[in-house]
Amino acid sequence: MTGHARDLRQAADPVIFAQQALNFSPDTWQQQVLRSNTHQVLLNCSRQAGKSTTAAIMALHRALFYPGSLVLLVSPSLRQSSELFRKVTEALEQLDKRPRLREDNRLSLTMQNKSRIVSLPGSESTIRGYSGASLIIEDEAARVPDELYYAIRPMLAVSKGRIILMSTPFGKRGHFHSEWTDGGDSLERIRIPASDCPRISAAFLEQEKRALGDWWYKQEYECEFVQTTDSVFNYDLVMSAMSDDIKPLFAADEQPWEKNRDQFFITDEVEPLLGRST
Ligand SMILES: Nc1ncnc2c1ncn2[C@@H]1O[C@H](COP(=O)(O)OP(=O)(O)OP(=O)(O)O)[C@@H](O)[C@H]1O
Ligand SMILES: [Mg+2]
Repeated sequence: MTGHARDLRQAADPVIFAQQALNFSPDTWQQQVLRSNTHQVLLNCSRQAGKSTTAAIMALHRALFYPGSLVLLVSPSLRQSSELFRKVTEALEQLDKRPRLREDNRLSLTMQNKSRIVSLPGSESTIRGYSGASLIIEDEAARVPDELYYAIRPMLAVSKGRIILMSTPFGKRGHFHSEWTDGGDSLERIRIPASDCPRISAAFLEQEKRALGDWWYKQEYECEFVQTTDSVFNYDLVMSAMSDDIKPLFAADEQPWEKNRDQFFITDEVEPLLGRST
C-alpha cells in the first residue's frame, strides 16, 4: 500500500489511525466512540476505562486530517487539562510523520495545517475567547461547572461542531446527569462499566467493592448516578412526588406577588421565572 493510500485510510477511519499510526489497539467501546459521527455523544464510563486516552486520539485525528480545525478539550481543573494535553503530545510523538507545529505551549498546539488543539481548565471565562470549534470534548464532564457547558453550547450552533461528554458519574446533578437522563433521543449514549473494560480484573473489582463500600463502588465502577450524600431529599423521591394532577396553591391569576408586588423583591433574574413582565 502506498503512503498516500495509507494516509487516506487513516483519515477515513480513526480506529485504523490509532492502530497503524499510534500502535494502539482501541477496545470495542473505544472503536465505537472513535467511529461515531453523531453530533453529541455521552460516555458514561467507569474509572480508568480509557476516557482520556480516547479523547486525546479523537482530538489528534481531527486536527491532523481536517485542516483548520479548532479542537477544544475541557477539563474540570488545570491539573486535569495539563494531564489530558500530555496525552495528546505523547500520541503525537508516536507518529512516524510528525506534523510541523507552528506554535506549541503547555496547553495548546497549532499545526502547519492551521488546526489547533487547546486544552482548557474548567472555568467559564477561559472558553469565552474561542469560536468556531469543530470538536469539543469535555473530560470528567460531571465535574465541569454547568456555566462552562452553557457557555460552550452556543458556539456549536454556529460551527455545527460535535460535542463529546465523557465522565464517570458524580451524583444526580449537573449537566452530565441531566443530558444523560433528559437530553433527548438525538444524543448517542454509551455506558462502559468496569466489568466491560478488559484491563480491570474481577479480583481487583472485588477488592475495590470492599474498600470503597457500595455507594462509591456503584459510582466509580458501575456508572450509576447515585444520590449525592448531602441531599436532604432523595432525587427519585422528589421526581416521584411531581404530578401535573395537583393544582398549584395559587391559581395563575392570583399569585401573591401580583397582588402585593411591593412586598416582594423581584430582581431581573427572578422576573423571567415568573413568566410575567413588570
Ligand atoms: N485500548 C487500550 N489498550 C491498552 N491500554 C489502554 C487502552 N485504553 C486505555 N488504556 C490505558 O488505561 C489507563 C487508563 O486510561 P485513561 O487515563 O485514558 O482512563 P480514564 O478513564 O481517563 O481514567 P480516569 O477515570 O482515572 O480519568 C492508561 O494507562 C491508558 O494508557
Ligand atoms: Mg481520565
